[in-house]
Amino acid sequence: MKIIRAFRVHSAIASAALLAMQIAAAESPREHLSLDAGWKFHLGDDWPDALHRENSGTGSGPASEKFADTYWRVVNLPHDWAVELPFDWAADGSHGFKPLGTKFPTNSIGWYRRTFELPKEDQVKRIWLTFAGVMHDATVWVNGWCVRRHEGGYYPFREDITDLVHFGGKNTIAVRVDATASEGWFYEGAGIYRHVCLDLTAPVAIAPDGIFVVSSFKNNVPSDHAVIHIEVDLLNTLTNDTKATVNCELNSPDGTLLNQFDESVKVNPQSRQLVSLESKLSSPVLWSPESPKLFKLLTTVSVAGKIVDQKETSFGIRSVAFDPTNGFLLNGKHYEIHGTCNHQDHAGVGAAIPDALQEFRVNQLKEFGCNAIRTSHNPPTPELLDACDRLGLLVLDESRLMGSDSENMIKWDDQIRRDRNHPSIAIWCIANEQFMVQDTPQAANVACRMQEYVKRLDPTRPVTYASPEDDVFSGINSVIQVRGWNYHYGPQMDRYHAAHPNQPNVGTEQASVVGTRGIYTNDAAHGYVAAYDVVWPGWTTTAESWWSFFAVRPWLSGAFVWTGFDYRGEPTPYWWPCVNSHFGILDTCGFPKDVFYYYQSWWTTNTVLHLLPHWNWPGREGQEILVEAFSNCRQVELFLNGVSLGRQVIKPNSKLSWQVKYAPGTLSAKGFDEAGKVIAETKMETTGPATQIQLTPDRKTINADGEDVSVFTVSAVDAQGRAVPVAQNQINFAIEGDGKIIGVGNGDPSCHEPDVFVPNVPERSVAVNDWRWQIAKIPKSDTVIPEYANDFDDSTWSALNVKTSGGEPTIKTPDTTAIYRAHFALTEEDLKGSGAQVCFSGCDDEGWYFVNGQFVGESHDWQAQPIFDIKKFLHAGDNVIAAAVNNGVGSGGLNLNVNVEVIGKASTPPWARSLFNGLAQIIVRSTRNAGEIKLTATADGLAPATVAVQTQPCKPRASVPSVVGANK
Ligand code: GAL
Repeated sequence: MKIIRAFRVHSAIASAALLAMQIAAAESPREHLSLDAGWKFHLGDDWPDALHRENSGTGSGPASEKFADTYWRVVNLPHDWAVELPFDWAADGSHGFKPLGTKFPTNSIGWYRRTFELPKEDQVKRIWLTFAGVMHDATVWVNGWCVRRHEGGYYPFREDITDLVHFGGKNTIAVRVDATASEGWFYEGAGIYRHVCLDLTAPVAIAPDGIFVVSSFKNNVPSDHAVIHIEVDLLNTLTNDTKATVNCELNSPDGTLLNQFDESVKVNPQSRQLVSLESKLSSPVLWSPESPKLFKLLTTVSVAGKIVDQKETSFGIRSVAFDPTNGFLLNGKHYEIHGTCNHQDHAGVGAAIPDALQEFRVNQLKEFGCNAIRTSHNPPTPELLDACDRLGLLVLDESRLMGSDSENMIKWDDQIRRDRNHPSIAIWCIANEQFMVQDTPQAANVACRMQEYVKRLDPTRPVTYASPEDDVFSGINSVIQVRGWNYHYGPQMDRYHAAHPNQPNVGTEQASVVGTRGIYTNDAAHGYVAAYDVVWPGWTTTAESWWSFFAVRPWLSGAFVWTGFDYRGEPTPYWWPCVNSHFGILDTCGFPKDVFYYYQSWWTTNTVLHLLPHWNWPGREGQEILVEAFSNCRQVELFLNGVSLGRQVIKPNSKLSWQVKYAPGTLSAKGFDEAGKVIAETKMETTGPATQIQLTPDRKTINADGEDVSVFTVSAVDAQGRAVPVAQNQINFAIEGDGKIIGVGNGDPSCHEPDVFVPNVPERSVAVNDWRWQIAKIPKSDTVIPEYANDFDDSTWSALNVKTSGGEPTIKTPDTTAIYRAHFALTEEDLKGSGAQVCFSGCDDEGWYFVNGQFVGESHDWQAQPIFDIKKFLHAGDNVIAAAVNNGVGSGGLNLNVNVEVIGKASTPPWARSLFNGLAQIIVRSTRNAGEIKLTATADGLAPATVAVQTQPCKPRASVPSVVGANK
């Protein structure tokens, strides 16, 4: 079967230069290049006029091509500057007490710049610039042209920048990020926290997100063969129609070519053409979380026998359905969702999670039997979906907001097209908890529109809404395909199911029990909550309660626990000094809390036997301590120092408790099966004080690609080598070799120590005030004339105090030129730093600037605030700046405030972090040099530890080389 649809493309995509190159383009296959390395970053809104756009292509301040960012910090993406800020009690606690937002304007705007070169030969290609996500609002300039203003931190955006780039020359991307606004009630980060890439394609190519591949079975139940449906969206940017051939190859998970087929189509000029193809595969191996087998589709587009594009797409073959009676069905069988909701936030790095850390997090979740995640409350970072496909987690893919307005529908469209090839995605979610509108007819209309839209773009998956409602069937609940339940477990669910037996259900959000890792009494002063699965806010319940209810009702499909990981912000049930949430089964580092073992007991087939609390309670001898066992054994017997404290039977989905009079020593337990055979043993010993640090990397060999990370667990052991669960020592870190520390954490929800140590750069600002000037004929270029020299006698020129002249223009007549001169003094010490720059607050209309008689740069936009690197022109003692100014229309001159900024040597404070209840984490990233990373941890009174991780040669992701060189 073949369906072909055609669309018109906006005519703006044609450019004169391109038209001349049509034929040669046929030989240019796609390049997908990372732009992550080597950005320059500056925090602060120092160029408030940059958003003023009077003319095209003349961005001012850092938006200008000419701007000197020499002394800005080099960062690699993903980057989150919020995590670098100190905690501040006056900031919004729900966002983690990071000083961002309207009260903190200087922290809320950041600038990024990246330069790159494009070879001349590339002028036959289309150049696409894609941002996977910027928190929160972004304005993007390419070579001074403003190409995009994008609002919203969770959606990708892309521009065809072909018309604006310099082929055979240097290009500059400038991004102003405004993180003042927020969308969530949780930590969201700030900055370019997802990947940026450049795609180079031929003028006839696969459109962005232009491949859809999905499998189906008869009656949606796997049988002898699957049908693979493929849609390829072709884009022709040429002015003539073109005949293109689309060839598809299907490859099995082991790389065997299974099937090959093609289709030729005519693509109209400046148009899109959708080509639909189908193929059958017999007895395909199925994708599931337990066996995440991925097939590959290789799509090749040829024009006149030459390959013009080629793209590989991973996909999985499986069927999903939500059934009103049997709950969630994976590959035709009931499959209980053991899910967790998660925000994108991790210790050390905040929202800027490297791809390898996404994998680490997925693996941590899988450890306790989690088989699904809800990307609350927004579309996820694509590399998280890749990790879920590869490692095996189902996904509930959620939109940030619901709305049928054009902006929201475009975002919804982008989200579905971007994500729909991922086999991990089982269901789409239109929104979370829209309390104020959810029962209105308008919300029902919007839900219908979004739901219907999914049917068009992805007929294979249903849609839900995370409803915070009881037994209520109105508004959204009355029209949504799958009823989502946020909390409200209990008889109301049974009543609802009885009244609406044809609507499937899923627990979109349950639990929200709070607990702090390693803490066993509530401590409001420090912001800690006991980790016994006993503390929950009013709207929520314990792990044991909700799961016992769901476990025996298959029609509920299982649920997503709030949350898998702790995250910054929402410090329920406390506020300052507590800065993190406590909802996680894992803390912000991914260290398990005790409740991890509750879920592991009932969500995995492992034999689990876990005791809590730890057994270090000096001073509490003889007092009763609540001891619990999380286990899936049939019976558990507890012993203190070898004496039995009784054997108890565990009911399914529950836990056991004992009151035990504390005595130091060994608390141990045995687990028995049905037949009374011992199948598990565990013990907890009272340890001595910590004597030695231990460092344990999660991976001992990582890729030397400048992106891979090793996640080290830092712990302390006593003289007998036993982990000390109460150790709180401050640990200092030093790194040598081919790696870089990118973050530290410890899971303490009230810890205010820095997660990131950024370089400190001392700066001295020298105001340049004593100006003299005169109307003069100037050469409009970099030609040096005697008036610019140090020893020129300007004593007869008019004095002008630029700083206090109140902005009064000096040149009153249009089309007039003038020269300005000023002296400033520097010391020998000033010249020992990293450099110096001169910053002009404006020049109306054009200026040519000289320092000590040498040309340093020029500006041609009256709004620009030019900055020039002048390090090499300076000497100790008296220095002279001269500006030749051309005033075009009206009156003008050199603007207020000229400063020379003397930049000192950068120094990074040493990395350090305290252990919290025995543990801390340090994340180390590779460089592109293969070799060894040696991490050393030291602490007062403890023996140090040094551990090496190897970085192996690999093929790094293709990238656009950065002139600042920076995957160090
Ligand atoms: C829910 C909400 C979540 C989180 C949670 C805390 O109602 O959807 O985002 O705030 O409460 O219990």
